[in-house]
Order: sequence, then structure tokens, then C-alpha cells
Amino acid sequence: MNRLTDRTRANNAATSDNWERSADHRRHVTAMITRGFTGGAARVCLLGAGNCNDVDLAALVATFAEVHLVDIDAGAMSAGVERQGLGGESKIVPHGGVDLTGVWDELAAWSSDTPATHEQVDAMIGRMRDWPGPDIGGPFDMVVSLSLLSQLIAAAVEALGERHPRLADLVVAVRARHLRLLFDLTRPGGYGLLVTDVFASDTAPMLPQIDDKLVPALVKHMSDHGNHFHGLQPAAIVRAILTELDAEHTMPHRQLVEPWRWTLGERCYAMLGFKYQRAGESA
Ligand SMILES: C[S@@+](CC[C@H](N)C(=O)[O-])C[C@H]1O[C@@H](n2cnc3c(N)ncnc32)[C@H](O)[C@@H]1O
Repeated sequence: MNRLTDRTRANNAATSDNWERSADHRRHVTAMITRGFTGGAARVCLLGAGNCNDVDLAALVATFAEVHLVDIDAGAMSAGVERQGLGGESKIVPHGGVDLTGVWDELAAWSSDTPATHEQVDAMIGRMRDWPGPDIGGPFDMVVSLSLLSQLIAAAVEALGERHPRLADLVVAVRARHLRLLFDLTRPGGYGLLVTDVFASDTAPMLPQIDDKLVPALVKHMSDHGNHFHGLQPAAIVRAILTELDAEHTMPHRQLVEPWRWTLGERCYAMLGFKYQRAGESA
């Protein structure tokens, strides 16, 4: 039993009926994924597919030859596919029960009650870095991380506790590993898209009320004042992409997508996207 997986499943169960509420977010995310693809042999891979409330699977099936869904929670994914009336669709390839950190069980075994030592943290960072990645049939023409990074970082925070002196190191390592995973799963010439939540209405009660046009300014204001989820300040994400992935050379085309909102359950999230094309031969 892995307590992080249990919590993840509980979160997914609590937000599974958010199809209607997710409509605007889903339209936006689906458009970012399909733009530039017009059928043919291209394959897409969605990391953190979960309930699939944030993607229009019918549109993806119409655009791509294969739609790979990856998540630790197999049940949420299959229910999500069923909800969209696509159970049995041969183009959809689910990869359920797949961990996307490489150290999930170890993270779950840690807690702030029995703090990990510096040596243990170093060893975990090393194992994460050396992890070869999941065996899911990559690389793909398009790879998307769907609000997964915040969950992976939250797991690291829970594993060490907010006050651990090495928390920042572990958060940076989890973020770097995830960005590397996204990149490695993208074939040369293919595209990647990171979708992440930055903060939620708990700390920004005005977020659900303001005009759409004001969301980018609010995200900037909140981020400039350090009001964002651990490790998810937009500027820090971009810096990490530039340094960890040598983006100047490996991503000739890259774009920070203007922030938008996603209402999920009781909370409203400020969302950010980063889309890139990986250097190399186009298919
Ligand atoms: C916020 S949800 C993504 C939103 C989802 N696509 C939807 O439409 O509701 C994050 C997903 O990441 C998955 N996840 C969390 N930790 C994971 C891990 N270590 N490996 C793989 N998936 C994980 C969760 O099960 C969850 O489905």
C-alpha cells in the first residue's frame, strides 16, 4: 500500500464529476494539443490523464493515430474514458498504475515525523536522476503533462515536511526530473506541452471573480510576491527549462502560454502552459 497513491485516488474520486465545470479549460488545453496536427500517423501521450476532464478525447482520437494515457490511478483513467463514451476505442492506449517519478514508493515511506537525513535526500535525488523513465512506448510526436507537476511536488513536500532544510533541493529535483521526462518522451522535431496550476483561490479569493483579461496580471502579481505553489513560480519554471534542458539549443521554438483559469470542485486554479518544439528532424 502506498499512502500517496491512496490520496491521489481519493482526490481523483472527489473531482471526477467536474466535466461540465471543466469545459473552458478543456477546450483551451485540447486546442493547444491538437494545433498543427491534421491526422496521419502522429501519436500523443498525456501524463497525468487521471479523470480526463481536461481533454476532449474524441478530438484527440480524430487527430492522432494513438492516444496514450498515463497515470498512477488506472481506475480514474478508465472511468474518464468511459464518461466520454470511448470505452473500447482502439486508438486509446491506457498505461494505468504507472509512476512518473521513479521514487514514488520511497517518497510515500517518508514523513515529517521521521525526517529523512541529508544522505537519504541526496540518494533519492540521485535515484530520481538515474531513473530511466517509464516503459510506455515513447518517444511521441506530442507529449503533455496535465497538472501533474504540482501533485508530484506536493508529494515531495509531504514526504519531507515544510520545515525540512532540504525541501527546496528535493522540490527542484522533482521539477527538473519531470521537465526532463517530458522532454525525453518527445521525439526530435516533436512537441511538448507543460500544463500546470500555479496557485488557487484559497490564497487568491479574487481569482474566480475577475475578468479573464486580468488573470495574467494577477498571476504575475502573485508570483512576484512569492504566492504560488512550491516550485511553480512561472519565472522559475522557465529558468529551469533553460538551464536543465539547455532550451536555447534543444527547443528552437518555445512559448509561455498566457495564464488562464480552471474551476475544479470548490477551488479555482490559475493555470500556466509552456509549449515547445524539440530540435531535430520533423517526421
Ligand atoms: C490534477 S490531476 C490531472 C488532471 C486530470 N487530467 C483531470 O482531468 O482531472 C493529476 C494526476 O496525476 C496523477 N498522479 C499523481 N502522482 C502521480 C505519479 N507519481 N505518477 C503518475 N501519475 C500521478 C493523479 O492520479 C492525477 O490523475
